[in-house]
Amino acid sequence: MATNVNAEALKESPIPEVAAHTGKQTVDPYNVSGGVDANGVQLAIDYSKLIEEFGTKKIDQPLLERFERLTGKKPHRFLRRGIVFSHRDFELILDRYERGEPFFLYTGRGPSSDSVHVGHTVPFEFTKWLQDTFDVPLVIMLTDDEKYLFSEKRTIEEVQGYCSTNAKDIIAIGFDPAKTFIFSDFDFVGGAFYRNIVRLSKHITLNQARAIFGFNESTNIGRIHFGSIQGATSWASSFPHIFGADEKKTTKIPALIPCAIDQDPYFRMTRDVSARIQHAKPSLIHSKFLDALQGPGTKMSASVDESAIFMKDTPKQIQNKINKHAFSGGKETEEEHRRLGGDTSVDVSYQYLRFFLEDDDELEKIRVSYEAGELLTGQLKAICIRELQAYVSGFQERRAKVTDETVAHFMDRRPLQWVGNPRVTIV
Ligand code: TRP
Repeated sequence: MATNVNAEALKESPIPEVAAHTGKQTVDPYNVSGGVDANGVQLAIDYSKLIEEFGTKKIDQPLLERFERLTGKKPHRFLRRGIVFSHRDFELILDRYERGEPFFLYTGRGPSSDSVHVGHTVPFEFTKWLQDTFDVPLVIMLTDDEKYLFSEKRTIEEVQGYCSTNAKDIIAIGFDPAKTFIFSDFDFVGGAFYRNIVRLSKHITLNQARAIFGFNESTNIGRIHFGSIQGATSWASSFPHIFGADEKKTTKIPALIPCAIDQDPYFRMTRDVSARIQHAKPSLIHSKFLDALQGPGTKMSASVDESAIFMKDTPKQIQNKINKHAFSGGKETEEEHRRLGGDTSVDVSYQYLRFFLEDDDELEKIRVSYEAGELLTGQLKAICIRELQAYVSGFQERRAKVTDETVAHFMDRRPLQWVGNPRVTIV
């Protein structure tokens, strides 16, 4: 056997592995950037281009109308405003809902630190709303293994520690304990889940993983394999305590995965393998990113305090951050602003209101008045501060009530209870 171990090849490969500084738009699980223009200026992410490149579908008005007809519920503001903007086979999930056939929700988080910011809560808020709307089981994966494998420094103990604090933050979003199972990969891998992980990995070649994720010769093999773990969670048969042990049935139950668009590569790969081994393909519904305070094309970072509003921030901190750092689409002087109006498409305070202000009429009034130069930047910021303070303090009140016992309950392998579509009787 070859004993010629190449020490160079065993060194931890640098992160990110995909060239992030080519100036081009890059969106994958490890890099999110809109790229830069010829002058080095940061560009906003072009989401229509992503739909084209990834081969997903835009969420359009007829789909939303059908959704409303079936569920009797007005689409969430993220859907109404194109924040949740793209999907794969969401209409198949609606077909199942219409017929009263089972499906489940799957989402996740990489526990990379204790600092959860408002951007992290977007897919979770949306997932909670889907759970309330559809009344189906939800599994939430905490990828502690991923955050260990994809970091130079973090230890296993560290990422495992983040799991319970992250679980508390996730629970504080308001998930229903009767319908939600949260797990950490380090704890849950084994049994039916591990069988599915290995099944998935058997159907992915190194060439495919490289093409999908951009790995290279010095990528550690844990990273190359990780996609099969994130992917296998899309299969109901990984959760016999929820769906039963009869694989003839469970392999037919699809997942609906709400996630930010950067996670799509994992599931493109999973959908491909699902089709080949007669497992239900997961459906996806994708959200956009919340810009960092610095403006379009930047992403909130858990490790850069001035980039984000954190769920631990005090009302005063929120006020200071918005006033000091929130990129403004307003003009240099008040006179000029009144004459020419502000640009809501780049204004961070306005963009945050699109995410967090529920009232459509109020939002539209703000837009019109800011663009007309009547509403000034300071006034717009004040509205944004008020809304974010309310959002964050609501979260903090719920978070204060989450105990270690609550976490233990959510993470316990137990049957879940749900009704599905109560308007359909299954005979
Ligand atoms: N990889 C994701 C992250 O780093 C976590 C994750 C696992 C996830 N499974 C998911 C996110 C499904 C969305 C949907 O945050």
